[in-house]
Amino acid sequence: LANAQRAHWGSRLAFILAAAGSAIGLGNIWKFPYITGVNGGGLFVLVYLGCILLVGVPVLIAELYIGQKAQSNAVTAFERTHKPKTLWRLPGWLGLASAFFILSFYSVVGGWILYYTYLSITGQLLTPPPEEIGKTLTELFASPLTQTVCHFLFMATTVVIVMAGVKNGLERWTKILMPVLFLILVGLLVRVFFLEGFPKAISFLFSIHEGEMTAHGWMEAVGHSFFTLSLGMGAMITYGSYLSEKENLVRAAVAVAFLDTLIALMAGVVIFAIVFSFGLQPSSGPGLIFATLPVLFAQMTGGWLVATAFFLLIFFAALTSAVSLLEVVVAYWTESHGVDRHRSTVTNAVVIFILGLLSALSTNVLAEVKILGLTFFDLFDKMTSSYMLPIGGILISVFFGWTLGKQAALNAANRLGPVAVALLWITRIAAPIAVLLVLWNLVFGL
Ligand code: PHE
Repeated sequence: LANAQRAHWGSRLAFILAAAGSAIGLGNIWKFPYITGVNGGGLFVLVYLGCILLVGVPVLIAELYIGQKAQSNAVTAFERTHKPKTLWRLPGWLGLASAFFILSFYSVVGGWILYYTYLSITGQLLTPPPEEIGKTLTELFASPLTQTVCHFLFMATTVVIVMAGVKNGLERWTKILMPVLFLILVGLLVRVFFLEGFPKAISFLFSIHEGEMTAHGWMEAVGHSFFTLSLGMGAMITYGSYLSEKENLVRAAVAVAFLDTLIALMAGVVIFAIVFSFGLQPSSGPGLIFATLPVLFAQMTGGWLVATAFFLLIFFAALTSAVSLLEVVVAYWTESHGVDRHRSTVTNAVVIFILGLLSALSTNVLAEVKILGLTFFDLFDKMTSSYMLPIGGILISVFFGWTLGKQAALNAANRLGPVAVALLWITRIAAPIAVLLVLWNLVFGL
């Protein structure tokens, strides 16, 4: 069978790190702090944590199970675990579409990170006086050329890694880089502990008296729990498919969700401690980390070194996530249509790069072009996070809970009765209804 030659992860640890590598990315370090700021803090964080536990972890288990069982890409996986030509391929298709749109704007943000890495290395990031540090971002946004070049470089790096394949590409890098990222974050956490804004940051993030929830806020919390765990679009199905049959999926899913959440919260504390120490705006949007971090780095001895290391690591974290996005599409074309891996990688990447130009130019040439009141960048972000991933997630959850049913839940839970029952009823009822309610509330009002 084709399965015999199918690439697999080298070890259990390699798999967990790769899955964590997909989950941990810009969603944790760039997006989580900025949407928390926009939504006012604590209450939003609580809802988000609830979503991770109630919806995220069960759907993550379901996706890994479907992939592992099927040993195939995100579209075919539904056929292999159910029956050929089933309509359940729909979530697979939706997933491919999501991968295209997400990677298109993800790569643009990845480009900003790359640009900041470059500025740190060359010492340009921290030379302007503190009140002018924000200018760097404004200038970057205003330049179509810089935006395009950075977006291109990020996409090109992703291509190189995906081409190398599962073992040589994905595995080798995540194994080294994820632990280093974690250590640097710990270091920064220790540093911001001594800032005067630290207590305020803690209460901003963890006091439920901070902020209030709007319909958009709810949707953003649910949507982000999918985004940050790479759910609802087949990435975890694809990664699960590189897993051999013996693996404790519940443990793996809990480990991945735990690490992902930990990194997001740590990033949040670091960013908001800086925000409250230097009188910056918590709700300043997508530019938040770029406006805050350099201010802290500028105050540190050897700040340029810390800045370089940190942006470099965010770059790698973003890269391991981008790789998983591209892998979803590439795995489909190579397996289901027999397209050569290299060709499929390059072709898809070119299309995604071109689509991404719409986002790269959203801050300058195309700034005035609005669809439903949003620039392309915001549109692609909202459309995927708030609609496509949650809808994909509901479908996958229902497929697992109802179509695959009891047997699947038992297997996924390693025959642990209570865990299987919980998994079954969450994927059947609780998770789909919770997500539907929030969607309904956003579109029609409750
Ligand atoms: N989870 C990644 C992040 O938080 C983004 C991602 C979404 C990756 C969907 C793959 C699939 O940055």
